[in-house]
Amino acid sequence: MALKVALLGCGVVGSEVVRLINDQSSELAARVGTSLEIGGIAVRRLGRARGTGVDPALFTTDAMGLVTRPDIDLVVEVIGGIEPARSLILAAIKSGKSVVTANKALLAEDGATIHAAARDAGVDVYYEASVAGAIPLLRPLRDSLAGDRVHRVLGIVNGTTNYILDRMDSRGAGFAESLEEAQSLGYAEADPTADVEGFDAAAKAAILARLAFHTRVTAADVHREGITEVSAADIASAKAMGCVVKLLAICQRSADGTSVGVRVHPVMLPRRHPLATVNEAYNAVFVEAESAGRLMFYGAGAGGAPTASAVLGDLVAVARNRLAGTHVAEGAHDTGLPVHPMGET
Ligand code: HSE
Repeated sequence: MALKVALLGCGVVGSEVVRLINDQSSELAARVGTSLEIGGIAVRRLGRARGTGVDPALFTTDAMGLVTRPDIDLVVEVIGGIEPARSLILAAIKSGKSVVTANKALLAEDGATIHAAARDAGVDVYYEASVAGAIPLLRPLRDSLAGDRVHRVLGIVNGTTNYILDRMDSRGAGFAESLEEAQSLGYAEADPTADVEGFDAAAKAAILARLAFHTRVTAADVHREGITEVSAADIASAKAMGCVVKLLAICQRSADGTSVGVRVHPVMLPRRHPLATVNEAYNAVFVEAESAGRLMFYGAGAGGAPTASAVLGDLVAVARNRLAGTHVAEGAHDTGLPVHPMGET
């Protein structure tokens, strides 16, 4: 029997998810062990529903009705923001559906509630697309590095700001025109303040820090500075010193291992540093772990298709778990390690 998927949101990422589920239906069915069928798509306004070849009968404005429908097995949330996403995800979980979400803001604010509800209901919540788009990063941190001790995570996790800083450095372009280009390429948030003021990167840093250090971290725990104060003169001075300016998320364990620091701010990086070579809207994340040593994850961190790739990967994983009658109980054994925005106090 097919597994039915409800999709919440059909914008840049959602419409690409629909396209991939339809175009790759037989491959996905082979990988999961049964077919995935779109059971409904919740949108804010029916007139704006997108998706070539999508049966118009699938669209609804009743998102709550859709996620609690008894025939729906899995829910994909790509509307973003805190509400109504939180209520819809919690209702889906309570109705026994596993959830795939790209919602960094919600997970960074209230991930603990979402994970606790999923544990209680015995369902999965997967969220690979919430940080660094297409880059397989969260499940490697959660699963592949579960037997190691992570010391530091250092990354470029916002494509829009990297694009702006790269254009300012390589072409001497202005801030406003670079932001406009990033928006037109589909990288920026609906309100780009979240990108340029560092809120987006701070939410991602909170998610990374929770997974890396197995402790509760919210966006409010993260020290945050964006790139709006970075001037052409700053970029030129950095250049004269053989450096580039990058907005970095820095998550690290204190030297004595008893606390964690999480911060986001512009950093001058020597041009020979591997993160200095990450240009355009690409993302890259360094992980330093006790036994694994230094790992680097690199790829497309924003945009419809790369983000949809991560959503589809999660969808296959939660579908397989559902067929196997299993789920991942995330956050059950968090350590409670204290978090300080700037590191040790
Ligand atoms: N606005 C985000 C970015 C999109 O520029 O990275 C991906 O989360």
